Amino acid sequence: MNNKRKISRRDFLKLLAAGSATALGGYLLSEFAPWLDYEEQATETWTAQNFSAPLMTLVHSATLAANGHNTQPWKFAIKDNAIEIHPDTSRRLPVVDPSDREMWISLGCALENMLVAARASGYNAEVTYPEQADFIHVQLSADTPQASPLFDAIPLRQNTRSAYDGRLVKNEDLEQLQALQLEPGVTLQFATNPTAMETFLEYVNLGNLAQYADTAFVDELIAWLRFNKKEALSSLDGLYSACSGNPQVPRWLGQMFVAGTKPQQQADADAAKFRTSPIAVAVSSESDNKTSWVRTGQVYERLALTMTSLEIKSAFLNQPIEVSSLRGQFQSAIGLGSSLPQLLVRFGYADAMPRSLRRPVEEVLI
Ligand SMILES: Cc1cc2nc3c(=O)[nH]c(=O)nc-3n(C[C@H](O)[C@H](O)[C@H](O)COP(=O)(O)O)c2cc1C
Repeated sequence: MNNKRKISRRDFLKLLAAGSATALGGYLLSEFAPWLDYEEQATETWTAQNFSAPLMTLVHSATLAANGHNTQPWKFAIKDNAIEIHPDTSRRLPVVDPSDREMWISLGCALENMLVAARASGYNAEVTYPEQADFIHVQLSADTPQASPLFDAIPLRQNTRSAYDGRLVKNEDLEQLQALQLEPGVTLQFATNPTAMETFLEYVNLGNLAQYADTAFVDELIAWLRFNKKEALSSLDGLYSACSGNPQVPRWLGQMFVAGTKPQQQADADAAKFRTSPIAVAVSSESDNKTSWVRTGQVYERLALTMTSLEIKSAFLNQPIEVSSLRGQFQSAIGLGSSLPQLLVRFGYADAMPRSLRRPVEEVLI
C-alpha cells in the first residue's frame, strides 16, 4: 500500500495562504516593530520629568507647544536666570513657509508655554522680542508660584485633525474665548454663524486646491510625514499618520498615496471635517515681522490652552494664508481691514487623537 498522501489542490491553496500570511506577518512585524511602544514614548514626552537643572522644566513645557509640521524649529540656551529661544533654521519649511513666518509663530507658541510654566513654577518672566536680535530672550526672577488651568492644559493640548461631533460650543465658553487676553497688535475674528463659516471654508477649499496641485508642497509634506511608528519613534518629530487618524503603512505606500491625492479629494476631506466644527477663528496681526509673529503664536497657544481647559478641541486649516495669492483675498473676504491673517483654526468637541512626539530637552539645548 502506498502511504504517501497526495496533496489536494485545496490543501495546496491552504498551505499557500498560510505561508503568505506568515510572510506578511513577518513583514509587518519588522516594519512596524510592535515591541517599540509608541504610547510609552508619548507618555514620556508629555509627562513632567526630573531634570538636572530647574530651568530645563520650563524648556520641556516649551517643547510641548504647537509647531508647523511638528518640525520643532527651536533651540534653547539656558543662561543665569534667563532662557533664550532661537530658531533652528535647519528645520525651516521653505515651500510652505518661505518667509519663516510660521517658524516664528511656532517659537511664539513655545514662548507662551514657557511663560505659563514659569508662572506656575514661581518665576516672574520678562520677554525681549526679536526686534533687533534673532532670538527671544526670557529673563526670569523669583516670584510666588501661580497655579493655573492653562498650566494643567499644557500636557493635554493637541491639534485634533479628526471630524468633530457637531455639538455647539457652550455660550459661556465661547464668551470666555472671545474675552481672551490678547497681545499688542493681535486680534481674533470668530466665525460663529453658517454664512461666516462658509466664507472661511471657501478659502480653505481654494487653499487645498492650490497646495495639492503643487508638487513642491506635497514633496515637502511627505518629507515630514511619519507613515508608521517605527519612523515616528526614530525621528521623534514630524507628522505621524495615527495622529491624523490615518493607518500605519510602509513609507513607499504612504508616499504613493499622498503623492496621488487629487487636490479636490483633499479639499473635500477637509471641507467635511470643517463642517463638523461649529466655530472657526482667524488670528491676525497688525504687521508681518518677527515680533508680530511671535505674539501671534503666543495668542494662539493661549487660546488653544484655554480651549483645552474647557475640553474643546481645535485644528489648524491655514491653507488660505499659506498660499500667498489667497492671503489678501481671504483678508478682505472676512473683513479684517488692514489686519493680516496669520492662522485659521476650527474648533468644537471630539475625542482625543494619539499624541504627537517631541525630541527630548537635551537634544534642543544649545
Ligand atoms: C504655525 C503653525 C502652522 C500649522 N499649520 C498646520 C496646518 O496647516 N494643518 C495642520 O493640520 N496642522 C498645522 N499645525 C499644527 C501642527 O502640525 C502641530 O502643532 C504639530 O504637528 C504638533 O502636534 P500637536 O499640536 O498635536 O502637539 C500648525 C501649527 C503651527 C504652530
